[in-house]
Amino acid sequence: NSLTKLTVTYCFLLIFSQTNFQHVADVIPKITALPRSCVVIPCSFKMEEEYVTRLRVLWVTIKGGYMFHTDPDDVLDNFKGRTRLIGNPDEQDCSVEMDNVQTHDNGPFCFRAERENERYSFNNSCVFIIMRAPDKPVMSSLPEDIEPGTRVAVKCSVNHTCSSHPPQITWSVPTARETISHSHMGGGVWETVSAVTFIPTGYEEKDEIVCTAKFWGGKTQENTAFLSIRRVQGVGFGPYAIVSSLVFILICVLTGVFIYKRQHRFVWFLAYTYALECLHLNLNLYSATRRSNLH
Ligand SMILES: *[C@@H]1O[C@H](CO)[C@@H](O)[C@H](O)[C@H]1NC(C)=O
Ligand SMILES: *[C@@H]1O[C@H](CO)[C@@H](O)[C@H](O)[C@H]1NC(C)=O
Repeated sequence: NSLTKLTVTYCFLLIFSQTNFQHVADVIPKITALPRSCVVIPCSFKMEEEYVTRLRVLWVTIKGGYMFHTDPDDVLDNFKGRTRLIGNPDEQDCSVEMDNVQTHDNGPFCFRAERENERYSFNNSCVFIIMRAPDKPVMSSLPEDIEPGTRVAVKCSVNHTCSSHPPQITWSVPTARETISHSHMGGGVWETVSAVTFIPTGYEEKDEIVCTAKFWGGKTQENTAFLSIRRVQGVGFGPYAIVSSLVFILICVLTGVFIYKRQHRFVWFLAYTYALECLHLNLNLYSATRRSNLH
């Protein structure tokens, strides 16, 4: 089966390479694809004669059926509704998209063209599709010992061959100012980059930052980087501060109550202001410990 497949392919290529090609095309010989996702096969061509418009772009399989045809009825059942032309033939672009890629969609698939009753064939026009697991995203390196409150720039990049539906990148931490870019790395491989800024508070629950790429078709792949944030230290903002605050408030209230029991209106007023002042002082003390803890 894989041997006969190879033999058939070999014969096909042998016959094809002996044909006299009239025109020059530029289709890469192989491209990788993620099953269930999409793959965009880049294709361009040149016509030596006059500028030819309204060409009908076709993509044929090894057995001569159509992987793509401008008339949907002519497309092989196996590819019906899954293939579409991405390029504009009037601009010599014959790029085709195959969606919901199946593991057996290996090809080769070859580009051809027609116009009225004329047929055009091209050299360098066939592509093999190689199935592959989704690429792992790559994260830029993070600085060590980050000071809480500082802006940290971080990037997450992932390669794919489905340029019509690029992967979505998400982050495990709150981020701001996201910029997304897509660049062609050549050979039909595209790189999607999410560049964000992240401001650690110092109270992060986890010592890590995860970036996840969700590919068209649903598969996900992630990468984790260690997050080294300067830890909040000291006696302060912990059980000790809370207990001392509670004790302080209790003293305030008890003093207030004691003075109130004296039943004098004026004294009661004094007690009231005293309690307020007491609380105020306590709040100041609290925020002071918090501030000093952060530094
Ligand atoms: C086939 O493609 C090559 C470039 O790879 C080109 O130099 C050559 O002229 C082409 N052959 C024909 C018959 O068009
Ligand atoms: C994407 O592929 C290119 C080469 O094709 C490589 O240089 C680059 O590092 C890859 N990027 C990622 C994020 O894997």
